[in-house]
Amino acid sequence: HHARLTIDPTRVRSTLDRRLFGGFVEHLGRHIHTGIFEPGHPTADDRGFRRDVVDLVRELGVTTIRYPGGNFVSGFRWEDSVGPQDERPRRLDLAWHSTETNEVGLHEFADWLELVGSDMMLAVNLGTRGTLEALDLMEYTRVPGGTATSDRRIANGRTAPFDVGMWCLGNEMDGPWQLGHRNAEDYGKIAAMTARAMRQVEPEAELVVCGSSGAQMPTFGEWERTVLRHTYDLVDFISCHAYYEERAGDLATFLASPVDMDRFIETVSGIADEVGREIGSEKTMLISFDEWNVWYQERFRDVNTITGAGNWPVAPRLLEDVYSVADAVVVGGLLISLLRHSDRVRSASLAQLVNVIAPIMTTPGGDSWRQTTFLPFATTSRLAHGTVLDLEVDSDQVTTAGYGDIPAVDAACTADGDRASVFVVNRSATEGARFELVLSAFGGRVVGASVLSDADVYAVNTEADPLRVTLQELAPVETADGVAVFELPAASWAAIEIE
Ligand code: AHR
Repeated sequence: HHARLTIDPTRVRSTLDRRLFGGFVEHLGRHIHTGIFEPGHPTADDRGFRRDVVDLVRELGVTTIRYPGGNFVSGFRWEDSVGPQDERPRRLDLAWHSTETNEVGLHEFADWLELVGSDMMLAVNLGTRGTLEALDLMEYTRVPGGTATSDRRIANGRTAPFDVGMWCLGNEMDGPWQLGHRNAEDYGKIAAMTARAMRQVEPEAELVVCGSSGAQMPTFGEWERTVLRHTYDLVDFISCHAYYEERAGDLATFLASPVDMDRFIETVSGIADEVGREIGSEKTMLISFDEWNVWYQERFRDVNTITGAGNWPVAPRLLEDVYSVADAVVVGGLLISLLRHSDRVRSASLAQLVNVIAPIMTTPGGDSWRQTTFLPFATTSRLAHGTVLDLEVDSDQVTTAGYGDIPAVDAACTADGDRASVFVVNRSATEGARFELVLSAFGGRVVGASVLSDADVYAVNTEADPLRVTLQELAPVETADGVAVFELPAASWAAIEIE
């Protein structure tokens, strides 16, 4: 294949909102216990946080972290998770059929966020609870003091309010699996009522209303329209969630997953704009893509289902997907899609962070390591700064069963002063691509480039072989007349820095 990219630095799509590189920590499986928290682990600090994991989270470069769920939040009583640790109740977690010990709660999570250097994005429970409990949580976290609920925070050891920028009004309320699932009309009403009330406490709070759990939901589209009719003036963001997996050995379609993400974002933006026009609003509704990743839901459904009224394990192994090179190429491609839409998608969260469909894995009492998906995420977060440019990539096409003919090569570019970073993916499963990058707009120098690819696209990193897959240096095969030419292997992702 052949592709050519000319960068025009005057074609600015948006300033980059670094919240695009957010993560997600849910009380689920071994995310908390033996993931981020393991008293007695050789690297644990005096609060029980694994320092090896803290270091990896910092290296990953996640900006905001959504918490505490996910499906978990729809059965969560936040009050259980504050106060003296040894007095906190153990509760059934119906979402994951587990026992929640509440040893780690709001205060511990906020302490941990300070260690990793990320900001908190908090979800309220609109499944089994309502407006009053959301208000209580907001008062507890955000009001400086002088009321019963805010003084309780102070008594629990935190004088200053928690730094919570964004709030999710529930989680995946369109999904029949969600505790308290309801139809769009009913959810729209409770979301509007709660948003209005939360704004009475804090008018500047940034609020995210639930969109669809996926573009494949039967209610997709109508859900967004109905919910936004109730909430358009009251919220800042509508959420999108999407998970991708290779199905029935169709690697070509899987590698093209970012096409689905593009369409999803554009459909939701279109519906939001229609509702905005309908109600005569000047406001642009933003998107919080607050769950996205590769997740092998079909392959491991049975392994991830715990049943039995007497069977509620603590921190069972759940959703511990092991990611391949192909999965990481898709993750890199999805980041390109998010960057391309950075004018609308101002916040996103890779779901999730540690052990649970995660870029970081741990062994209880043992090591931690980077999955393949860690590599494109950390690199994109490290290199993407400044503004996002509008690009046209002139590329040959590949044919996919799922999305028809699509460009083999796709790219995004950020520019910061006289430096630019190009992120590029070759989505052909079978053929390499000759990628010509026209450098003339910048100083014309490639200052660094790395590529993710492998002769075995199903190669993975494991505890026994944690560096089986790493990024390799990528050198141009030719540089002449202000054009650098790269050979991108089949199913590969690369980052190129120019100045
Ligand atoms: O990320 C795993 C689960 O996926 C979340 O709990 C839920 O919101 C989604 O269905």
